[in-house]
Order: sequence, then structure tokens, then C-alpha cells
Amino acid sequence: MAKSNSEKILPIGVFDSGIGGLTVANALTRHLPHEEIIYFGDTAHMPYGEKSADAIRYYCLKIVKFLLEKNCKIIVIACNSATATAFDAMLDFFGSQVPFINVIDPLVEEIGRLDFQKVGIIGTKATISSSSYERKLQALAPQLNISSLATPLLAPMIEEGFFDNNISHTVIDNYLSHSSLENIDALLLACTHYPLIRTEIENYYCGAVKIFDSTDLIAKAARQLLVEKNLLNPISQTLPKHQFFVSDYTPSFEQTTQYFYKNKNIHLEHLPIW
Ligand code: DGL
Repeated sequence: MAKSNSEKILPIGVFDSGIGGLTVANALTRHLPHEEIIYFGDTAHMPYGEKSADAIRYYCLKIVKFLLEKNCKIIVIACNSATATAFDAMLDFFGSQVPFINVIDPLVEEIGRLDFQKVGIIGTKATISSSSYERKLQALAPQLNISSLATPLLAPMIEEGFFDNNISHTVIDNYLSHSSLENIDALLLACTHYPLIRTEIENYYCGAVKIFDSTDLIAKAARQLLVEKNLLNPISQTLPKHQFFVSDYTPSFEQTTQYFYKNKNIHLEHLPIW
């Protein structure tokens, strides 16, 4: 369908409970350098992984409404817990107004294409207890042996800035040595906070297990969606102005934003939408 330039230059909406989705936003800016991003980090309700599905749905619907008020042309749900519990509700309420990309499907499709015997999945309690990954993976690869483990300390630990130090090494070693993850040949990082500890996880396995996260896969899926919908930004802006909103100001959010967007044109605002 023909699209006007005024539609194509609209921003991409991205959200998560906190800094995890910044790993996705960062991949989006690498794959789609001319696109503007509006990011919402629901730091007031972090961690989503400990909340009920009803609560997460309520938060997500309000955030999507906010991103639509900002005229986002597509919305990237950069949170596994939100995707696992609230994706259907978001589609029901807003699917006719805006296209969505979720974080689970691109990773599941990638694993479905590969030939593994046993994969491990680590994520928040909300993601693991939803069994979303298992159901989708089993539908694509019925012979695959899947073992899931909730690792609830990881996202809050990362959100607090504890990574690449003795504390994070101890917590990570403790989780990864769990018997359910024995003999896996691939590990899926089913939480968007975990790419920030990916190197520590790789060091734990010393190359014996292949590690997957969804960041680049989501960025590729977003590019493909923009091409299909004829919504790629035609203006080659060298420094698109990204906007970051948080529902509660936290120093670690600001530090992580600066870590990912050094010397970039960004605007961070505390926006108490609740
Ligand atoms: N980054 C999120 C995810 O992918 C959620 C972490 C949390 O808020 O518990 O699940």
C-alpha cells in the first residue's frame, strides 16, 4: 500500500520493564540507523518476571497506548515476560492500529531451523511458567529435548548494574550448574536483560554450548516488517533523535543508556504514567 513520507518518518516504539530492552534498541539502531526510537522502560514495575500475568497485561496495554499517542509506526515488545503473558491482549486491543514485533517468535524460528538435541532456556518466572517457548518450539521441532529454568535473580541483578563482577559470576555459576541444564547443546537467553551477561555465560561454558539471544533477530524482523509495510524511513538522518522514557528514574537506566548510546543524540525523561 502507498505510504506517505509523513508516515515513514514516524518513530519505532520499543518497551521493556527496564534496561533489558536497551539491548534490543541498540540492535535496532545498528540495523536501522536512520530510524528514530521511542523507548519506554517501566522501571516503576520492574521486575515484570515476578508479577502476575494480569498485572503485566495491565502495564503493557497502558504502555502501548502511550507509544501510540507518540505515533509509533511499529511497536517492538522488547521483553520476554511481556510477550509471554500479554502479547495476545496487545494484539486484541491494538493489533488493528499498529504492527507488533515480539521477542519470542524470531528466536524460536531460528532454533527451529537448526539441528539441536537438547536446548536449555533461562528466563524470568513469568516467561518460564507461561511455557511459551516450549509450546512454540515443540510445534516447530517435536523431537527437540527442551529444559527450562527460571533464573529470577538475574534481571534485578543486571538492572542494579551488577554484571561482570564476583557477585554476578557466583549467581550465574549457581544457576547454570543446575542439573536440568546438564548436557544441553544450546542455551536460549529468554530475557532481554541477559545479553548484558552474555560474555559471562559464554565464559562459563567455554564454547561447549552455543548461546542465543534475540537482539539481532528482532532487529532483522523489524527491518523486514518495515520493508513489507513500506515504512522504512527514507530520510538518511545521521543522528536520529531517540527518546527514552522511564516510569521511575534510576541511575542505572541512565548509565546503561549512555553505555549503549555514547555520543548519540538522546533524550531521557522521567514520565510517571501510572
Ligand atoms: N527484560 C525482561 C524480559 O525479557 C524482564 C525482566 C523483568 O522485568 O523481570 O523478560
